[in-house]
Amino acid sequence: MCRNCSPHPSADAGPSTGTQPTFGAQPTRRALARLLMTGAGLSALTACTPGPAPESEGTGTPVAGSGSPSPSATGSPASGSASAAASVSATASPAAASSSAGAAKSPSVSATPSTTAAAAPPSAASRLPKQFSLTDPASPWVIVNKHRPLKPANYVPADLVQPRVALAVTGEAAQLNRTTAAAAERMFAAAAADGVNITLASGYRSYATQVVTYNGWVSSQGRAAADTASARPGYSEHQTGWAFDIGDAGGACSFQPCFAEQPAAVWAKANAHRFGFVVRYPWMQHTITGYFYESWHLRYIGVEAATDMRKRGVATLEQYFGLASAPGYL
Ligand code: DAL
Ligand code: ZN
Repeated sequence: MCRNCSPHPSADAGPSTGTQPTFGAQPTRRALARLLMTGAGLSALTACTPGPAPESEGTGTPVAGSGSPSPSATGSPASGSASAAASVSATASPAAASSSAGAAKSPSVSATPSTTAAAAPPSAASRLPKQFSLTDPASPWVIVNKHRPLKPANYVPADLVQPRVALAVTGEAAQLNRTTAAAAERMFAAAAADGVNITLASGYRSYATQVVTYNGWVSSQGRAAADTASARPGYSEHQTGWAFDIGDAGGACSFQPCFAEQPAAVWAKANAHRFGFVVRYPWMQHTITGYFYESWHLRYIGVEAATDMRKRGVATLEQYFGLASAPGYL
């Protein structure tokens, strides 16, 4: 079933010129319907429709058939409400981040909502177990968004490896940190056992590569549109080794809105949590995450946290960890 209910732009389509949802407010259901009916539809939602240097480009060499990346704002609604934000200490132990895959815990035993990590009431905070750091890029819970650049900006994971999975790229983009690589291997194998063949479309991206990628977006679409799809250098999860983009083995719809309908994306949305991953930029959460829907971008946080997040119906890491929304750069 088509959840986008509109033809998808081709991979090499230009930027949208239609009305777009703003980052200031979530469009209402009625407003969205009006957009679709007036033909602005999909293009209005695809502020991040393809540019010459989309998010995965610049690292490694795309393997033939992997398709042309193009971020998008379209797809299906994220499930559940996001009201069950969990509080967590921002100064949790980074030492715990050296855990093996699947060992990451859930952020809090209490479901006390909070607006910032530091806002957890002392009583609740004191009940929290030692947790992972939200700021150390080596932590599986590091939160990188438009308010939270990587520190240091030129961070390079110490344990980059190439996972034994089907690759749609070569070079640095075929690498992940060791924990994420192991989890990816398990997830890709499980998907294959279910008859779904996922490829690694873009993994690690260095600061230097992100400079090239982001500048490509800016050149083709302007800074405002670029910022809805591509992180500025020093602000990308890809630089941590904890995130990667998936493709479908057939190469269909890679980095395009219609990827949400492909078996790889459907499978990942339903199962990624079992391997410690979340879809980091869910549908219509751009006022919180800062980016339109990327059905291909998975982020490792550990099995327990990813499963807990799903169980609670929390859509974004910002909400789960009780952090402020980050729609734009400070
Ligand atoms: N496309 C994501 C936001 C990135 O550039 O990291
Ligand atoms: Zn990505």
